[in-house]
Amino acid sequence: MTTVTDKELHQHADRARGRVVVITGGANGIGRETVLTFARYGAKVVIGDLDLKGAKAVVAEVNSHGGDAVCMACNVLKWDDLVDLFELAMKKYGAVDVVIPNAGVNEIGNPFTGKVEVSDGRILPPQMPTLDVNVTAVIHTSWNEFPIAPQYGASKHAVLGLMLSLCPTLDADNIRVGSVHPWYVAGVPLTPVSRVAGAVFCSATDPDPSTSGCPWLLLDERPVLRVNRDDLRLGLYDLLKDRIERPTGFSERARRTVLLFTHLWRIFRPAIVVVSLVGVASLAWFSGV
Ligand SMILES: NC(=O)c1ccc[n+]([C@@H]2O[C@H](COP(=O)([O-])OP(=O)(O)OC[C@H]3O[C@@H](n4cnc5c(N)ncnc54)[C@H](O)[C@@H]3O)[C@@H](O)[C@H]2O)c1
Repeated sequence: MTTVTDKELHQHADRARGRVVVITGGANGIGRETVLTFARYGAKVVIGDLDLKGAKAVVAEVNSHGGDAVCMACNVLKWDDLVDLFELAMKKYGAVDVVIPNAGVNEIGNPFTGKVEVSDGRILPPQMPTLDVNVTAVIHTSWNEFPIAPQYGASKHAVLGLMLSLCPTLDADNIRVGSVHPWYVAGVPLTPVSRVAGAVFCSATDPDPSTSGCPWLLLDERPVLRVNRDDLRLGLYDLLKDRIERPTGFSERARRTVLLFTHLWRIFRPAIVVVSLVGVASLAWFSGV
C-alpha cells in the first residue's frame, strides 16, 4: 500500500488545466470542494445539481477568482437532465474530459423496516431512492461504451454490501443470511450447477451461527470456498487495520477526542457563542442584574 501525502494529491495538477469537468452534486459538500479544486488548477467545470441556488453560488465563487464554471438544475434520476448536462458542456466548452458522478444521498426511507404499503389488497414494491441515486444514476452518468458488464459488477457488489449490512440485524433475530457467488454456470462446466445449489442449501441450513453472514464463492472446478466473517475483515482491511481500528490506548483516545472537539468547535462555534450569549442574557434578566 502506498501513502499519498496531501501535497502529492495535487502533484499532477497541470493535467487539469483547460480540461472540461462535468460533475453532479457540485453545489455542496465534497462536490463543491472538488469543483473549487479543479477550477483552482484551471479546469472548466460544468455542475449539475438539484440545488440550483447552491450551484450558482459555487459558479459565482469560481468565476470571482478568475475561473470558468457553469451550472444547471439537474436531477440525476432523470435521464433527460443528464443529457442536457452533457449537452451544456459540449455547447459551452466543446468537450467533456472528466466525468464525476458525485451526487449521492444517505439512506432515504429504509425499505427493510418490515412496514409495507398496500394497494388493492396487494403489497407494493419498496421504494429504494438511495439505490436509484447512488447506483443507477452513477451508471447513467458514467454511461459509455463499457467493455465488460458494468451493471452486473455493480449489482453483485451491491448485493454483497447488502448482505453484510443486513447481517447484524438478522443475527439478533436468529435469522441466517448469506450470498452465493458462482463462476459461470450455464454452458461452462467449471462449476456444476448442483454445487451452486448445494452452496445455497448449506448457507441456509447450516446450524452454526458463525457461518451466517458469509459469502460463498465458487471460483472454478474446485470445491466451494466459504469466506468466514473474520477472513472478510482481513485481506485489504487487515492492511488498513491500524487506521480503522477503534483507538484502544489512552493517548490515542485522548488525541481523537481533542481532534473531535476541535472540529466540533470549528463547525459549531457561532451557534455555541450565540447560545452562550443568550444564556448569559437570560441569567442576567432573571436575576435582575
Ligand atoms: N460526506 C461523507 O462523509 C461521505 C462519505 C462517503 C461517501 N460520500 C459520498 O460522497 C458524495 C457527496 O457527498 P456529500 O457528503 O458531499 O453530500 P452532500 O449532501 O453535501 O452533497 C450532495 C449533493 O448532491 C446533490 N444531489 C442529491 N441528490 C441529487 C439528485 N438526485 N440529482 C442531482 N443532485 C443531487 C445535493 O443537492 C447536494 O448538492 C455522495 O455520493 C456520498 O454518498 C460522502
